Amino acid sequence: MRISQQIFPRPVALITTISKEGKDNVATFSFLMPISFEPKYVAFSVSPNRHSFKNLKETKEFVMNILSKEMKKEAEICGSFSGKEKDKFVLAKLTKEKAEKVKPPLIKECPISFECKVVLMQEFGDHYLVVGKVEKEHIRNEEFEPLLHFSSETFATMKKLD
Ligand SMILES: Cc1cc2nc3c(=O)[nH]c(=O)nc-3n(C[C@H](O)[C@H](O)[C@H](O)COP(=O)(O)O)c2cc1C
Repeated sequence: MRISQQIFPRPVALITTISKEGKDNVATFSFLMPISFEPKYVAFSVSPNRHSFKNLKETKEFVMNILSKEMKKEAEICGSFSGKEKDKFVLAKLTKEKAEKVKPPLIKECPISFECKVVLMQEFGDHYLVVGKVEKEHIRNEEFEPLLHFSSETFATMKKLD
């Protein structure tokens, strides 16, 4: 059984990165977690096969854009193609906004974006743990309902308990 079928559900983010030549990319991630309240730190896990990994190694910056439940299609598109071959901002009809502290763009359609600088990137098994310090946050909608991921193509929404 895969670990993604054992630890679930997980929130989903579109993570933007940029190459040293200045070409940006976006990909879907659900192996992610908060680490610290103040200052804010976040982490996610990336396979070295991803184009995003190459960008992270090169420029050490990213934006973590949290997805709302309305954005399943965007999550699927950005998680199905490599930025090496496709412009996923165009494919998924995402609007880029200029970040203040980092070079990768924000995604306007997402309720929350965290501009981050990589402080740690370390190999664990078949993935790398990436820890980012949040340099700036953008909150467009505090009331959003998150998109949740189980495994492969299964997503869910949240139901609050009484
Ligand atoms: C819902 C979902 C969650 C994903 N989570 C991760 C993840 O946490 N880590 C990872 O390395 N890949 C994850 N992927 C796979 C990448 O998004 C996918 O391989 C993508 O095409 C990589 O794009 P890139 O090559 O442009 O970086 C996920 C895919 C989906 C659809």
